[in-house]
Amino acid sequence: MEKQTDVDTLTQRPSWLALKEHHALFREKNLQSLFQEDPKRGERLTTSAAGLFLDYSKNRITEETLRLLTVLAREQELPEQIDRMFRGEKINTTEHRAVLHIALRAAREEVIVVDGENVVPGVYAVLDKMSSFVRKVHDGSWKGHTGKPVRNVINIGIGGSDLGPVMAFEALRHYSRREMTFRFISNIDGTDFTEATRDLDPAETLFIVCSKTFTTLETMTNASTARAWLKASLGSDAAIARHFVAVSTNQEEVQRFGINPENMFGFWDWVGGRYSMDSSIGLSTMLAIGPERFLEMLSGFRKMDHHFRSAPLEQNLPVILGLLSFWENSFFGCGTRGIFPYDQYLKRFPAYLQQLTMESNGKHVTKSGTRVNYDTGPIFWGEPGTNGQHSFYQLIHQGTRIIPSDLIGFLHSLNPTGPHHTILVANLFAQSEALAFGRTAEQLRQEGVPESQIPHRVCEGNRPTNVILADRLTPETLGTLIALYEHSVFTQGTLWGIDSFDQWGVELGKILAKRIISELEAPKDPDLSHDSSTNALIRRFRNARKQD
Ligand code: F6P
Repeated sequence: MEKQTDVDTLTQRPSWLALKEHHALFREKNLQSLFQEDPKRGERLTTSAAGLFLDYSKNRITEETLRLLTVLAREQELPEQIDRMFRGEKINTTEHRAVLHIALRAAREEVIVVDGENVVPGVYAVLDKMSSFVRKVHDGSWKGHTGKPVRNVINIGIGGSDLGPVMAFEALRHYSRREMTFRFISNIDGTDFTEATRDLDPAETLFIVCSKTFTTLETMTNASTARAWLKASLGSDAAIARHFVAVSTNQEEVQRFGINPENMFGFWDWVGGRYSMDSSIGLSTMLAIGPERFLEMLSGFRKMDHHFRSAPLEQNLPVILGLLSFWENSFFGCGTRGIFPYDQYLKRFPAYLQQLTMESNGKHVTKSGTRVNYDTGPIFWGEPGTNGQHSFYQLIHQGTRIIPSDLIGFLHSLNPTGPHHTILVANLFAQSEALAFGRTAEQLRQEGVPESQIPHRVCEGNRPTNVILADRLTPETLGTLIALYEHSVFTQGTLWGIDSFDQWGVELGKILAKRIISELEAPKDPDLSHDSSTNALIRRFRNARKQD
């Protein structure tokens, strides 16, 4: 049984108050002075695990900060919570579910019990079924309705059933089968479907309908349109069996849609959508990179899981990342975090992290239902470097808000091209340096900058960054990187005392949208009982349609 900690008094605890008092120190100290006082901190405040290196020295912390943060983490039972998650306890208390994405990448021989059942054999049964399907598609023995092999794969899903697959496809494109086309349809906007299918031959196209619930409006509407598109071209319902597979926990709905359960790849209610890209939700990833590389990706996750479970908090990479984000968010009031991968293949990584972090920690009550009196989940956002440097970095350097950022890079490029990689990495390092130390008025004067320009050119610095480096972007590295953030999210949620694994906030909009759909579609003008703004918007749409 999970012990309910006294999270509701968090901000009155001596450990929180000690952090608050400690925070006052940073009114006098900035990153410049911290480095002057402790010139070796750049070598010491670093840590490595599972092939990832983290330099966190350019954060507004000292070793004492970390010590105080770990005191609070221990009071919040972080080590015990980690253990509870790995043991399969129902730590998602509002949904009464275990949280076992770690079981998706467990070693075959591991035993993880939920409700009296070891779930690991089930995980491998699905992985084996995926591998066997993927091999058939790759060797051409899985044929479409007209006998043609599959050349195009379209993943239909949204949220966790889209962002993980599309991010992983982009991230691992280098390893993907270039003779195949991969596309992703998520938006209910018909444009997404139309553009994804317009140049494809239905006879060579396989749809993967990905939905944990198999009831999500956007996904089911897109899947129905796909079924109609296919039938219109291939002329028969029998074609569905050869061109549609499903990934879901809901066999009944999959069957109702017309997909044979034999062509369904299952997963479990103990995997949250945003934690599912390494489950069968990753079928498109496996089709792109093959089963062996998919297993390599899982081994990357596993390495970080093992580190998270076993390393002391003080050397634990996801814990440190989580504590820093907690510190900057709850004590410095930094409400956002920038994610800047210096790697074009990671272009969808910030979008993926947005769901992972914001759906997990965007909560306003503690696990016991009390309103928090501190800020929780920061807003995550970002773009790949160096593109962002020529757009929004201005605000990070000289704006009035402090935006802590993670800069992610690789020592080796997958596409060595003349000087490109050196320039790319130099920019990453330069941004971290510039953000931390800026440029003073004195330095500018010495450089001969005219006095009138000095206020405009001063960069105050003192902007925190983490630098995360790995050797090169491989499937294994990607797995490690994702697990790093998954566990850092859990660390922060545990400190805030919130349930990082539910998402009740998304429901209201869905309920209202259903009602409004029927009001927009009603043959006669309906009686509207929304607020005056919503009523007027509905009338405006209906009037526009009447003129069509
Ligand atoms: O609406 C939010 C959400 O439930 C996410 O948590 C989830 O990843 C997404 O919708 C898709 O859900 P499903 O996989 O059930 O279609």
